[in-house]
Amino acid sequence: MEVKEALKNRRTVRLYQQKNVPDSDLAEMIDAARVTSCASNLQQLRYIVIRDSKLVKEIFPLTAWANLVRPSRTPESGISAPRCFIAVIASASANQVIYADAGAAIQSMQLMAWSKGLGCCWLGSIQRDKLKILFELPDDKQVLYLVAVGYPAEKPVAEDVPDGKSVFYYLDEQKCLHIPKIRLEDVATWR
Ligand SMILES: Cc1cc2nc3c(=O)[nH]c(=O)nc-3n(C[C@H](O)[C@H](O)[C@H](O)COP(=O)(O)O)c2cc1C
Repeated sequence: MEVKEALKNRRTVRLYQQKNVPDSDLAEMIDAARVTSCASNLQQLRYIVIRDSKLVKEIFPLTAWANLVRPSRTPESGISAPRCFIAVIASASANQVIYADAGAAIQSMQLMAWSKGLGCCWLGSIQRDKLKILFELPDDKQVLYLVAVGYPAEKPVAEDVPDGKSVFYYLDEQKCLHIPKIRLEDVATWR
């Protein structure tokens, strides 16, 4: 898959087929994150790949999905829930730049996943303290984000909108999720 195509077409996926993701694909996602740009090349991020079904179920109540269209894009256990999560971990004392590192790494993971026919949901609305206990992390570590991974059971679409128009994502009559993106001519000035 072309990089351009993946960049333009990748969408957050929140409903998943009940099919396991191969470990080799998950490993390639982590490998993509591993070689991504990071501040001073310090490589401070670590990852926990969770496929164990009991642990996946325990993670689920500690997440929140698509607030704007709730509950329509909250996956249901055994029907549309992801079977895999990747937790992005860092030192508890890391400085703010760690969020930039995590963002770049997660985008790499999402694009690698997309190129393999997988969809992701980057999750920031998570109960970090409870996840830390669940993952048995020591005090000096923190959970930054979760990334849900699975085979898509929905096809969200992006649409260009002028700056100032609502950017709230919404469902149409067919329950397809639309993601407004501010159009190119409105996001950049050229000097
Ligand atoms: C930092 C960050 C945190 C996010 N947290 C959540 C979340 O907790 N739950 C959720 O359903 N989506 C979450 N998302 C996904 C965004 O809602 C999604 O990226 C946005 O609606 C744009 O859709 P797109 O990824 O298809 O372009 C998060 C995205 C980012 C970058």
